[in-house]
Amino acid sequence: MCGIVAYLGPKNGVPVVLDGLRKLEYRGYDSAGIAILNQGRIAIHRSVGKLFSLEEKIREQQLDGSPVIGHTRWATHGRPTEANAHPHKHEGVVVVHNGIIENYLELRRELQDYGHVFSSETDTEVLSHLIVRALAAGADFAAAVSQALLRVRGTYALAVLYEKAPEKMIVARQSSPLVLALGGNPGEYFVASDIPALLNWSREVIFLDDGEMAVFTAAGMKIVGLDDGQEQKKEVRRISWDPIMAEKSGYRHFMLKEIFEQPEAVGNTLLGRLNEDRSGVDLSEIGFSPEQWRSFRDIKIVACGTSWHAGLVAKYWLENLARIPAEVDIASEFRYRDPMVGPETLVVGISQSGETADTLAALREARRRGASLLAICNVMESSVARLCDGVLYTHAGPEIGVASTKAFTTQLTALFLLTLELATARRSLSAVQISQQVKALLRLPQAIEKVLERALELELMARRYHQVDDYLYLARGLNFPIALEGALKLKEISYIHAEGYPAGEMKHGPIALIDEAMPVVVLAPPDRHLEKIVGNFQEVAARDGRLLIFSGPDLEIPAEIDKLDHFILEVVGEELNPLLYVVPLQLLAYYTAVLKGTDVDQPRNLAKSVTVE
Ligand code: AGP
Repeated sequence: MCGIVAYLGPKNGVPVVLDGLRKLEYRGYDSAGIAILNQGRIAIHRSVGKLFSLEEKIREQQLDGSPVIGHTRWATHGRPTEANAHPHKHEGVVVVHNGIIENYLELRRELQDYGHVFSSETDTEVLSHLIVRALAAGADFAAAVSQALLRVRGTYALAVLYEKAPEKMIVARQSSPLVLALGGNPGEYFVASDIPALLNWSREVIFLDDGEMAVFTAAGMKIVGLDDGQEQKKEVRRISWDPIMAEKSGYRHFMLKEIFEQPEAVGNTLLGRLNEDRSGVDLSEIGFSPEQWRSFRDIKIVACGTSWHAGLVAKYWLENLARIPAEVDIASEFRYRDPMVGPETLVVGISQSGETADTLAALREARRRGASLLAICNVMESSVARLCDGVLYTHAGPEIGVASTKAFTTQLTALFLLTLELATARRSLSAVQISQQVKALLRLPQAIEKVLERALELELMARRYHQVDDYLYLARGLNFPIALEGALKLKEISYIHAEGYPAGEMKHGPIALIDEAMPVVVLAPPDRHLEKIVGNFQEVAARDGRLLIFSGPDLEIPAEIDKLDHFILEVVGEELNPLLYVVPLQLLAYYTAVLKGTDVDQPRNLAKSVTVE
């Protein structure tokens, strides 16, 4: 995700901000930029690629000034180009921004109607134009920023400079983090998206809250509510983290941090993709017309690993809700079989990295056979994204841990949106049914949050079973892929052998494995398969298997089954259970691996992106 660093004080802010941006590099980005106010003028310098390119570009210029604001960009709207890099400047107003402006197209059109001309493809640029308009209408700098932000729907953390108010620096946040730090000198302030960028300069921090704006001058700092302008009193906290801990925001591993980021990541993936009254979806960004959506006769999904599991869930949704035939292939198999693919086929490539060799090859084979290609991808302008006719990006932010977690739940979110788009175009669901599904989707971040609050229960469960040699995961219907995913998570980071199986297959083999040494994870959500699943876990209990049951609140477990763990989840709606039930399985795998002492973020033999066959 994007990174912001800003400085106001007696030092030359350039080295301070560059140092801070370097400390945010772990967040992943594709371009960088800096804005320096010096003698009433703001110079901006931007470059594509890594921070090194920006530093090379400005090295000879002996740049000096304060305040200074800097940015590393993880592209979400607009390709990773210099023109789209931040800071964005318009008539003396300069902005850096982290987040997603949901209504930016509407604001951009309104501003263009007033004659504004834009120089980038980004959502961010509308902010500098909105502030300029408010200034032109007579507002002072701080009032202009708050008026502009009150027009915005979406998420932001931003820093703003204005050439005609050289003594001021303004920052604000809504659902995107921003941390303020007090310098050692009077009138010295540091601001950053995350704590690592500040640790070289200060450990006295203030966390800005949503809907707050801070105005900095050499005389002091004032924090006010954006809606009412009321001054806010904030607590100064002392940070004791070391720099490595700080990069993980205090979490022990990136994987755990990313598991806990899922409510925000799922929410961000929904932003800008629902219609005005949130009763339906709007995937116009993909660029397919309703006629094109209706023209597809079947769908093929190609992916690897966890992304393949996401495709398996999507198959159920596409067939049940959009009433379109859907097949899911492991990419390395698809590319070598003689697939029935033609001009009326939509081939969907799912890839977090967008660089997986087998998925790329499968998509190229599909293209050769005349299919339309759609990417579900987390990295803008990655090879998969560039290859396809349309892209629906997951907004998970960079996923550092090799074991995929937030990318998976955001892939499912994107695939569910795709299903609803197809169901709308094909009229396979009524407007009321679509609206009900959207409402259920909007409740999901909160439901995931509630599971995360009970992480300790999964840690205790992991303590009971981390020394076993084998695990079996069972589920039915659209939760069967979650049994596969839970097993993959466990095996790839704890090195314990684990298998996911359709519960109906028990009698066809796996039941031979059941004994008291075998923990059997059973997903038993309140859905059409519940009665059958109860039968399955009774078969396990009858053979002394150790049951770990994940269910809804109303499951009655027969009294004679006493050797079990039971984790209860809230009801979210049958179609969305996969996005919720995977979360405790991610935590179970994580805590098991920690107890096993493996390298959780970089498990042996694995790479984050398999760019070779
Ligand atoms: C999942 O935890 C693994 N890291 C792996 O299976 C991964 O999902 C697979 O390699 C596909 O990667 P991609 O999504 O980047 O294409």
